[in-house]
Amino acid sequence: MSAMNPHSAPLESPPQPHAQQPRASATRPRRRHLLRNAAVLILVLLVLFAIAAIMGNRHVLPDREPQKVQVTPQQLKQGEYLARMGDCAACHSSGKAPAFAGGTPLETGFGTVFGTNITPDPDLGIGRWSADEFYKAVTNGTAPGGRQLYPAMPYASYHRMKREDADLIYGYLMNQPAAATPNQKPQMPFPFNLRVLMLGWKMLYLRGDELPTASQGQSAEWQRGRYLGNVMGHCAECHTPRSALGGMEKSHWLAGGTLGLFSAPGITAGQLAERGWSAESLEQFLRRGYSASGSAFDEMHPVIANSTQYLSDADARAMVTFLLGDAPPPPQPVAPIDTTSLAAGRSHYMALCASCHGSEGLGRQLTMPPLHGNSTVRQADGRNLVLSILVGLPRRTGEQAGPTTLPGMPGFAHELDDQAVADLANYVRGQMGGQRADITAARAAELRGAAKKADRAIAP
Ligand code: HEC
Ligand code: HEC
Ligand code: HEC
Repeated sequence: MSAMNPHSAPLESPPQPHAQQPRASATRPRRRHLLRNAAVLILVLLVLFAIAAIMGNRHVLPDREPQKVQVTPQQLKQGEYLARMGDCAACHSSGKAPAFAGGTPLETGFGTVFGTNITPDPDLGIGRWSADEFYKAVTNGTAPGGRQLYPAMPYASYHRMKREDADLIYGYLMNQPAAATPNQKPQMPFPFNLRVLMLGWKMLYLRGDELPTASQGQSAEWQRGRYLGNVMGHCAECHTPRSALGGMEKSHWLAGGTLGLFSAPGITAGQLAERGWSAESLEQFLRRGYSASGSAFDEMHPVIANSTQYLSDADARAMVTFLLGDAPPPPQPVAPIDTTSLAAGRSHYMALCASCHGSEGLGRQLTMPPLHGNSTVRQADGRNLVLSILVGLPRRTGEQAGPTTLPGMPGFAHELDDQAVADLANYVRGQMGGQRADITAARAAELRGAAKKADRAIAP
């Protein structure tokens, strides 16, 4: 034993009673010493952090001439297609300023950030940026000079964007008209105004590994769809729940998120089949914004208007294969439940809804979505159904009209009190969606409050 541990002998020797004495008298100076060292260390760290904070926030204009990027007409078209698949316009074209000149506000829960000018303007846009710098910003959230971008720019999804695809988007953007539109400063309170903190966020959420999937597949079509959905289309940014630090929870991929007032429902293969989605209805939904399972509204509508309506035939099939998997689960029919106790809800329905959606909720081809079997009606949590009843769904016009123009639906917040909203929602859920009648007046009141807090206008 002692041969194996030559140090055991001194350790085992009995404690020296007098050894305490000199040590005790040395304690105070040593502690002072330690305190001074700690103070110096903290100061050094603070200075380093301050330098990093300044670097991380500094807006650096690359020191080179405005870039001229030559592209063939073919490359220009490919770049346009990819920019659409990435839906860059959603946040970088505000509708007021010229295309890609920025200005779209994004509420993040930590503060508001604005889409930036990504036109080739040399001073206010990205006109001096190289293809390398562009790639780094889009896939890693780092702008020239080390400025850290907020993850409202979905680089956590774009992280695995192929270099050649980023280059094609760069070529496309650099050949769009330059707009002299200045960027708007983010409205971030301390400490979130310190961009250097994004370095920590990236260590947690910007991992090199493949993004998770919510369906089973291996085929080339499924792989392509995975790239289009997870990376380019960044579907998970809205459809995945987020942690307290605002990162997408990889263990609940596409299982449903609530960034805005309306929720982005779960779109895992299992959840989609449970609510009746088939490959055909999903493809129609993504390309037309309308299908037998319902229409696209709220934040999903611009995704379709700017992005998925342009999916090529092959890519639309790939996206659907990614969502449902190589062997799609069969769509579930609505399981009928007993609705005899829901007479109050039925009379509200006949008075307010039947004129448009039909007395049995069958809708009208291409103008009024059916409510019977409608995916919004079949969601276990009735959030989007109750909110639709309260605030309505405004008609979209002009550039935002999208591929299928629907007339819009009025909100009934003023006509119905909380109990009436709950009765109506329960009738629709039970009769047309096979869902339990578990919406309470308190839940209706809570969502009315949420709509008010979000300053949501009631559609006329
Ligand atoms: C969900 C909204 C959103 C989408 C979609 C989006 N961006 Fe952004 N982007 C932003 C925001 C917000 C910023 C500014 C972030 C900041 O201030 O830190 C930004 C910043 C950038 C920057 C840095 C510009 C600068 O001057 O710092 C580039 C480059 C960029 N985006 C390119 C793209 C491209 C290309 C696409 C499409 C493939 C895209 N973005 C899609 C929100 C978005
Ligand atoms: C004036 C016609 C009209 C009336 C009245 C009306 N709706 Fe709608 N409703 C629509 C239209 C049009 C849409 C599609 C809107 C869109 O997607 O932009 C819609 C959409 C919906 C949706 C979202 C489902 C989906 O997939 O689009 C629900 C849920 C809904 N209505 C429920 C109701 C209920 C319940 C009532 C009665 C309180 C009602 N509606 C009254 C026209 C109407
Ligand atoms: C900006 C946020 C956002 C993004 C990005 C987004 N969605 Fe959505 N999505 C929503 C919201 C909100 C809804 C609920 C409104 C509705 O049903 O139209 C929704 C609804 C849907 C629905 C209908 C679900 C149902 O049961 O009614 C499908 C399918 C869907 N999204 C697929 C996708 C796909 C595929 C992508 C990526 C290409 C995507 N979404 C990207 C916000 C988003």
